[in-house]
Amino acid sequence: MLNSLHMNFKEEIVQGIPNDLPTLNTYPKDANRAPKRKDILSEDEKYLAIRNALRYFPEKWHVLLAKEFAQELKDFGRIYMYRFKPSYKIYARPIDEYPAQSKQAAAIMLMIHNNLDNAVAQHPEELITYGGNGAVFQNWAQYLITMQYLSMMTDGQTLHMYSGHPMGLFPSSKSAPRVVVTNGMMIPNYSKANDWEKFNALGVTQYGQMTAGSFMYIGPQGIVHGTTITVMNAFRKVLPKGETPAGKIFLTAGLGGMSGAQPKAGNIAGCITICAEINPKAANKRYDQGWVDVLIDDLNILVSRVKMAQDNNEIVSIAFIGNVVDVWERFENENIFIHLGSDQTSLHIPWTGGYYPVDMSYEESNLLLSQDPDAFKEKVQASLRRHVASINHHASRGTYFFDYGNAFLLEASRAGADVVSTNKIDFKYPSYIQDILGPMCFDYGFGPFRWVCTSGKMEDLDKTDQIAIDILQDMLEKSPEEIQLQMQDNITWIRNAKENKMVVGSQARILYADAEGRSKIAAAFNKAIASGIIGEVVIGRDHHDVSGTDSPYRETSNVYDGSKYTADMAIHNVIGDSFRGATWVSIHNGGGVGWGEVINGGFGLLLDGSNEAEERLKNMLFYDVNNGIARRSWGRSEEALFAIKREMERTPALKVTIPFIVENSVLKNLF
Ligand SMILES: NC(=O)c1ccc[n+]([C@@H]2O[C@H](COP(=O)([O-])OP(=O)(O)OC[C@H]3O[C@@H](n4cnc5c(N)ncnc54)[C@H](O)[C@@H]3O)[C@@H](O)[C@H]2O)c1
Repeated sequence: MLNSLHMNFKEEIVQGIPNDLPTLNTYPKDANRAPKRKDILSEDEKYLAIRNALRYFPEKWHVLLAKEFAQELKDFGRIYMYRFKPSYKIYARPIDEYPAQSKQAAAIMLMIHNNLDNAVAQHPEELITYGGNGAVFQNWAQYLITMQYLSMMTDGQTLHMYSGHPMGLFPSSKSAPRVVVTNGMMIPNYSKANDWEKFNALGVTQYGQMTAGSFMYIGPQGIVHGTTITVMNAFRKVLPKGETPAGKIFLTAGLGGMSGAQPKAGNIAGCITICAEINPKAANKRYDQGWVDVLIDDLNILVSRVKMAQDNNEIVSIAFIGNVVDVWERFENENIFIHLGSDQTSLHIPWTGGYYPVDMSYEESNLLLSQDPDAFKEKVQASLRRHVASINHHASRGTYFFDYGNAFLLEASRAGADVVSTNKIDFKYPSYIQDILGPMCFDYGFGPFRWVCTSGKMEDLDKTDQIAIDILQDMLEKSPEEIQLQMQDNITWIRNAKENKMVVGSQARILYADAEGRSKIAAAFNKAIASGIIGEVVIGRDHHDVSGTDSPYRETSNVYDGSKYTADMAIHNVIGDSFRGATWVSIHNGGGVGWGEVINGGFGLLLDGSNEAEERLKNMLFYDVNNGIARRSWGRSEEALFAIKREMERTPALKVTIPFIVENSVLKNLF
């Protein structure tokens, strides 16, 4: 029997859990380790966690591994099974390099590898792709067994995965998905933040975020595109028709994981972006990457640089190293008009360093946080009140402020800031979904369609970019006025996509398209594959979309019939996609807004040039988008009603229940 040391990549994959105990290597020096997790388990529960972990391994190793895993649990709050991380390099290899009986299974291996690539993943040693906790697997044993199953599966089997755990291969059929993924699905009463800590530590569930646990992450390109579309549409709301954003100000905060996309997006949208960041390291990182043009740490210099940019109608992004509240207040005193205002500090975790209070340096804040968390909390709340007071002042002069899905308005209201509207229910300001992405994109079916060229060749990506441009251009000429701007924005995006150098890891691309656009682009790819012009392509999307996600404060926040607290749409979506041709499907609890706050689902579909693939893509993409439009139209969205009626005209087999709209005068004096 071969020892792992003498095996090649394919043999190692096929082997699964190795026959010989691998050596325990030291932790890689340059790796970004996941934060230590809460020590939340009782002693009995800790024993249960060890018992759970050991069930992946033969008894002969139990004594040694029990001690090792207990140490991992003590040191990191989780058992990652570091010893079992394979020695080969993990990255999205060309699809033919994977050992597989099924091409679809090979495509899934490629996508798993992309999510765990050192260049892509946030904490690769802990199998975390993004968001601090977005896991692909809970531990390396799950990874090894999953890859082994994928290497042996045929097109007549389906792998069922429970939060990273490969439950097993079950007989199914050629038309069934090859993999069904669930992440973090809990009995509703056990879905609070601490429940994640506990059940994840026990090794029985995980936080899949959106594209981490569904193998569909493509690096920062997705967030840059989404932010660009948001900023472009926000300017459209505030500027007279035909006026460009050049020389107009977008003021925001945060240059971290996702927020760091803001200046890059501002440049693509063509405005002056001022993005405050309190942590000099985070600001410098984005500057070194070329995602922000100018670094300034002095308010006087900032003011004169901004005035100059306004005078010259510049397109420029400026990182201000300091607190964003200082910028809002100083611009107020200087009478600098802000066209767009937002915020992407991490207010979903306000008390643990997500938001830094004004009038304190970064170091002072961190010290206070560690020594006196209650005093830190008070400082944060006082800062939020000041922050909002200045925003209100700017808004009274005409600034358009929107919440960027980071719980800014929620936490500001909890801090007692003047942010609640006169009806005492709503906030004074909209969220970016309520005002921008919901009515302008999702309700028309526009959402984050993405694809990966499995050959790994840049030429293939270039060819697919061109195919997408040709399709969208052709559709633009025939499309109704309501959706022309969205089409145009995405044509502009894709034309510049290569130049923006957003590819990290696999050769991937994202754009927003509606059901018709997604289907036409995918069908054209499939044809190009059949003709040998390009290799196989995986299509998919992220979960921040029309139909896949029920999230009352984000994706479905513009559904106003009371149903935004239900999750039927996401469940129908995953079931509907699964029998219409998806290669894999996933459904998660969690995502950007928190455990228990959202149910979101996704899919992947391998295009291999076959007639069957064409059949699958048409059937599945149609449902994947129109399910959400139907639900949004039932929620009385005018835009969705327009879109679903148009779709019914195009597709006679589609029959959707349309709401009757009640006159306001009927709803008076009834109670
Ligand atoms: N809805 C969406 O599509 C969407 C997209 C991106 C981010 N978000 C939300 O935005 C938030 C940020 O995400 P992230 O991944 O960038 O988080 P992150 O923690 O990596 O970055 C936030 C940054 O804000 C900085 N910061 C905190 N307080 C500050 C202050 N007062 N002044 C200046 N800088 C300050 C921090 O130093 C940090 O670098 C999260 O809450 C996330 O959920 C939502």
